[in-house]
Amino acid sequence: SSSSLTERLSSIGIVPVVVLDDADRARDLALALRDGGVGCAEFTLRTPAGLAAISATAGIDGFLAGAGTVLTVEQADAAIDAGATFAVTPGYDPAVADRLRAGGVTVVPGVATPTEVQRALSDGFSDVKVFPAGHLGGGSYLDALHGPFPDVRFIPSGGVDPGSLGDYLRRSWVLAASGSWMVPRDAIARGDFETIAAAAAECARIRDE
Ligand code: 3PG
Repeated sequence: SSSSLTERLSSIGIVPVVVLDDADRARDLALALRDGGVGCAEFTLRTPAGLAAISATAGIDGFLAGAGTVLTVEQADAAIDAGATFAVTPGYDPAVADRLRAGGVTVVPGVATPTEVQRALSDGFSDVKVFPAGHLGGGSYLDALHGPFPDVRFIPSGGVDPGSLGDYLRRSWVLAASGSWMVPRDAIARGDFETIAAAAAECARIRDE
């Protein structure tokens, strides 16, 4: 169910944002993240390889394959067909979020302002991504948003880094923190999965502190 999926995301605590050039790398990438202690990824649909990466990793034990940068209902349908278990959008488009939800995908829509939080909440989305959180003001911005929305859980993304990860995760209502730093595009292209596993392990260490 959607709620148990978000509890799994919450226990993982970190959502890598992947921009993949070659779907053939997806399986090894997922295994490196999982073995480093971060058993999920958002494969963005910014590249054509994103959908194939979701299909290639959706069956991996101990790994949650998500879709990211889902901008249109057509992409929502494609993400559902690819087997995405969760989906993230940079902003809030009710039609896209609805389509994903109707397809059985756990949706974490993006928001940046109180108005957007309120709209997502009234449509039944109480877990939201805050994008671009680091640029909007980081933890203190999240604290300000938390005031009027005490039951909303946030996934900060955009400008999160190893130095701020622990501070975000100290907030009980931060579901997870998200970013791309642990999955450098060039390391994936080189097939340097040791570097990625080590970066994931460092994330996991900060999470578990
Ligand atoms: C996202 O879609 O959330 C961002 O691309 C991730 O942001 P980052 O690259 O600054 O980590």
